[in-house]
Amino acid sequence: MPGGKQIVMSGIRPTGFLHLGNYFGAIRNYVKMQDEFECFFMVADLHSLTTHPDTKELKANVHRVLAENIACGLDPDKVALYCQSHVPETAELYLYLNMMAYKGELEKTTTFKDKVRQNPENVNAGLLTYPVLQTADIILHRAKYVPVGKDQEQHLEMARTFANRFNHRYGDVFPEPQAFNYNQQLIKVPSLDGVGKMSKSENQMATLYLADTDDMIRKKVMKAKTDSGPVEPNSPKPDYIENIFLLMKLVSSDEVVKQYETAYNDCSIRYGDFKKQLAEDMVNFIAPIRSKVDAILGDEEGLKQIMKKGAEKANKSAGETMKLVRKASGLNYF
Ligand code: TRP
Repeated sequence: MPGGKQIVMSGIRPTGFLHLGNYFGAIRNYVKMQDEFECFFMVADLHSLTTHPDTKELKANVHRVLAENIACGLDPDKVALYCQSHVPETAELYLYLNMMAYKGELEKTTTFKDKVRQNPENVNAGLLTYPVLQTADIILHRAKYVPVGKDQEQHLEMARTFANRFNHRYGDVFPEPQAFNYNQQLIKVPSLDGVGKMSKSENQMATLYLADTDDMIRKKVMKAKTDSGPVEPNSPKPDYIENIFLLMKLVSSDEVVKQYETAYNDCSIRYGDFKKQLAEDMVNFIAPIRSKVDAILGDEEGLKQIMKKGAEKANKSAGETMKLVRKASGLNYF
């Protein structure tokens, strides 16, 4: 436990553009954690090969996800920010863990079944053992806390199973990794069309990306669903209006939110003005992040140095763990 701090590890898939949901749901947690914990944040480039064998866009995607996380406040001097493929020990630990992961339990994984359904012509072994690779990522640093969303709970459960199985068979090397978040209830950022939350795969016009231009942000916000307004004072808000208030609470000042709450309650609210206000506050929130991302992406040498530094930190920690693993599992012949 370097520096006496607990160890945190998480992986980010390099699948393009981050949106407001990623920011408030995940990245903000990472940024908060970097001062309290020893953090390993990894771009899961190897995992992406299980579903995206074409690597033409990979480098650009890896650069973008790194730049977006840094622009949001992750500090490469405080955390180990690295690429999975730069840590070859991952592959070694993955191999050992594969001997204690059973075909039956892997086939039962929800994400595996989903991917088989979506892509029946590419059911490769990497897809089946995706949770084993994820376990290797985590326990390679003997991490205890893993900040992830609900969709990763099953993978984390499997990581505990494999870590425990290793410990049971060869002796205690790994702590049990567990999900970690500051807010009990992860912040869900509602979609602008009033249905569900912002996500990459749903309606693009209802999701605000950190890369959206000012005009695009305005256009999306102004399209958000409203109606002709409340007619009774203090009426309950329909979901889609509640959602606009939720978004406003994320980026606008308390006074502004209060002003529109009051206007809603006394039926004087004008939804056109309401959305214009939100659009401007959203632009003021996203634009500085977007320019930082562009600046970071424009400095390829700087990005290389960041990746190198991250890899060094991750390699060091991985090397220490693998010594313990080889010793415990009887693979230390010298
Ligand atoms: N599977 C995770 C996702 O889809 C990404 C990931 C890879 C990860 N390795 C990890 C998450 C290790 C947490 C810990 O989002």
